[in-house]
Amino acid sequence: MASKLSILTSVAVATAAAIFSASAFADVDAVAAKKLARKDHCLRCHAVAKKKEGPSYQSVAYKYKGQADAADKLYTHLTSGEKVKLSDGHEENHKIATAKNDAEIRNLISWILAQ
Ligand code: HEC
Repeated sequence: MASKLSILTSVAVATAAAIFSASAFADVDAVAAKKLARKDHCLRCHAVAKKKEGPSYQSVAYKYKGQADAADKLYTHLTSGEKVKLSDGHEENHKIATAKNDAEIRNLISWILAQ
């Protein structure tokens, strides 16, 4: 009985490990991410593939590729209103995401990093 239980436990652990290692971005809800980006007017200054007032999300993903703390850095960026310089030279606080909860902001970040 005890060995049966330990087999079940190790199967569960292996399955969980497989799910987590399969892809860090497997659980991104792209529809929700884009909806929040539209609602917060992020797309006024950012596009996925092309530079606008701000960097393209592809270039952001490229910049942070392989950095373990990328999501946390972007979380700070999107919640603290860091100063950014715009193309006309003036500085303003970066837009703060207005999501209802952290999970929505984290989802948007995962989507950006998956571009
Ligand atoms: C008024 C224009 C503007 C709006 C609106 C805006 N951004 Fe930005 N964003 C910028 C600029 C400019 C930068 C470049 C900052 C720098 O490199 O100093 C930037 C940088 C970023 C970065 C890269 C940060 C880094 O560490 O490299 C991310 C990610 C980002 N914005 C996401 C968003 C999201 C998500 C929204 C909507 C909630 C948003 N932005 C709204 C102008 C904007």
